[in-house]
Amino acid sequence: MIAIGCDHGGYELKLEIIKYLESRGLEYKDFGCHSATPVDYPVYGRAVAQAVAKGECQRGILLCGTGIGISIVANKVPGIRAALCCDCFSAEATRTHNDANILAMGGRVVGPGLAVKIVETFLDTPFSGEERHARRVAMIEE
Ligand code: RB5
Repeated sequence: MIAIGCDHGGYELKLEIIKYLESRGLEYKDFGCHSATPVDYPVYGRAVAQAVAKGECQRGILLCGTGIGISIVANKVPGIRAALCCDCFSAEATRTHNDANILAMGGRVVGPGLAVKIVETFLDTPFSGEERHARRVAMIEE
């Protein structure tokens, strides 16, 4: 199960990503928001991060105008490693190196075509499991 959430700045992009998840038959839980009316991104960042931290969802996707505010919020929740990505190289590296469990993007930064490729890369890339990366992830968790 994938947790997805956004503020108004990421709302349109969230709809595109949901279309993609549905096209792949991937299950998701939408934590809002549900329109382009201005809202406070910490509400949605926290809800998605808590669902992932509790294990209710295995991965999360968060969207705001820049991806910055909502990733800062998510990273305050213990157990969350949220990565703000604007390119596929970073999305792949944050899975193989950081075992990131939340992807954040900016709806005012990346277009829908690139965003979907970033989501695809993030979801399909496993953690490398290499000792040096596992050790560093463990250090983050400490
Ligand atoms: C909302 O205008 C904007 O500040 C928010 O979407 C996000 O970019 C914050 O980091």
